[in-house]
Amino acid sequence: MTGLRIESMAGRHIDAVMAIDAVSHSRQWSAAMWRRELAAADRCHLVVIHDDVVVAHAGSLQMLDELHITNVATHPEHRGSGHATRLLVELLRSGNKRGAEAATLEVRAADRGTHRVYGRLGFSPAGVRRAYYSAPTDDAVIMWLHDLSSLEAQDRIEAVAAVVETGEAIA
Ligand SMILES: CC(C)(COP(=O)(O)OP(=O)(O)OC[C@H]1O[C@@H](n2cnc3c(N)ncnc32)[C@H](O)[C@@H]1OP(=O)(O)O)[C@@H](O)C(=O)NCCC(=O)NCCS
Repeated sequence: MTGLRIESMAGRHIDAVMAIDAVSHSRQWSAAMWRRELAAADRCHLVVIHDDVVVAHAGSLQMLDELHITNVATHPEHRGSGHATRLLVELLRSGNKRGAEAATLEVRAADRGTHRVYGRLGFSPAGVRRAYYSAPTDDAVIMWLHDLSSLEAQDRIEAVAAVVETGEAIA
């Protein structure tokens, strides 16, 4: 896709990221929380910029050899173009370079489409936190991608990355 780039999130992106979260999540981080996140060395936050507009963002927190995906959101008008997948690929690549052996995240149980996005990259359900989310109340499904540094996991991630770059819908 032309006019598309991924950048490390910086202070100048906070307003745009908060605007995406306001229409994507029932709870949002404040600007002060974002500034703290961006200053923390163990966090990685990325944005997708399309034609100079921030259209998606995702972040992770690395704890020893575990990569925790902390948030992912794409502006509703830009969903279904592979942005979340692109960001997750970059977070997994960067976590792997920094020694992560596994990656994990939580997702609303009702959000089947999101499970598919993560499943393609190798995440699978490993547990449930009951009534973890509010407005509306929902369980959280905990997903894990084990053996992140294995050849099999790397091949799967790079295969998804290759397809997403064609700009065509992926199966
Ligand atoms: C979940 C969410 C982040 C997905 O964002 P997205 O940018 O639309 O995700 P992607 O485009 O990578 O994948 C979504 C679909 O687009 C399809 N798609 C279309 N073109 C694509 C391309 N070129 N490359 C990859 N996927 C493409 C994918 O196949 C996928 O299809 P599926 O629904 O059958 O799995 C977004 O819906 C969102 O912000 N939701 C609200 C917040 C949320 O629930 N966040 C996650 C929990 S923290």
